[in-house]
Amino acid sequence: MPPKLPPALPFLILLSFLFFYLYSTSLLPHSSPSSATTTTTTTTTTTTTKTRTTSCNFFKGNWILDRTKSAKPLYDESCPFHRNAWNCLRNHRENMGLINSWRWVPKDCELPKIDPERFLELMRNRNIGLVGDSLNENFLVSFLCILRVADGSAKKWKRKGAWRGAYFPKFNVTVSYHRAVLLAKYEWQPKQPTMNDGQKGIYRVDVDIPAEDWATITDYYDVLIFNTGHWWGYDKFPKETPLVFYRAGQPILPPLGLFDGFKVVLESMVSYIEREIPHKTLKFWRLQSPRHFYGGDWNQNGSCLLNEPLKEHEQQWSE
Ligand SMILES: *[C@@H]1O[C@H](CO)[C@@H](O)[C@H](O)[C@H]1NC(C)=O
Ligand SMILES: *[C@@H]1O[C@H](CO)[C@@H](O)[C@H](O)[C@H]1NC(C)=O
Repeated sequence: MPPKLPPALPFLILLSFLFFYLYSTSLLPHSSPSSATTTTTTTTTTTTTKTRTTSCNFFKGNWILDRTKSAKPLYDESCPFHRNAWNCLRNHRENMGLINSWRWVPKDCELPKIDPERFLELMRNRNIGLVGDSLNENFLVSFLCILRVADGSAKKWKRKGAWRGAYFPKFNVTVSYHRAVLLAKYEWQPKQPTMNDGQKGIYRVDVDIPAEDWATITDYYDVLIFNTGHWWGYDKFPKETPLVFYRAGQPILPPLGLFDGFKVVLESMVSYIEREIPHKTLKFWRLQSPRHFYGGDWNQNGSCLLNEPLKEHEQQWSE
């Protein structure tokens, strides 16, 4: 399966990230005006950190195998926030010790391990929302388990349409996830006479309307972390049940292909977020991770059997 990445994609994602980086204002009290404070959520690290930096790029670095005790995860299988089928600890996935010993080390900056107590103290009386696909959901689960170390009274929280989340009473902090895999609103429309032969129906995507799952709740959050990416493929939306893009209630003509639609939706959602979400809200755009299915795709009995990070040449970013 060779990588077939549309050429504009990495650039767009990078651009979106930079956009939010530049426009975000810092919440954390420790930051000084002269130094940008940034919280990064990278593809596979489960740490979120605050590092003062002017020129540091957290994304440049290496995975280092660290067998010392400090590399061990902060939580174990008793964490109640896991998704059952994804709970590698409780399901006894082989080589978890080895897998958990990989540490992301940026080339030119310090990335200390998260201190859940300090993090929640800094976030006291504030709420963090993640919006997007399962990449954000998996990050959330790990994040909740880490934060729970500092507040054993943490409770599941699923209000306001959140798919999952937790409330940390000791700090009055909510961290939750709203599922919106394309970010924009989309809905199934069964077959109609006007549709092409061979189509069972279409998914109508309104490129200028955010999905309800998050559009009405952004006021509640002080920090929002967005992502989308892995659903923009013909594996999810084959030609029998394609995405059809609408703007201002009308089909976009000529019809956009999947990747052009992705680009339009990204631009439109970024502009919505910039326009509608208050400036005081700290916003992040989370980057993409490579695909990692072996022996078949996600829906074809593929699984992830690796115990070490993918090498550069092994990375597959899209269908
Ligand atoms: C908890 O935080 C919210 C803001 O997220 C605030 O409105 C509320 O007053 C706080 N509650 C307490 C008990 O401090
Ligand atoms: C997946 O595995 C099951 C059980 O071994 C088999 O019945 C099914 O045909 C496989 N599906 C694919 C797409 O390979």
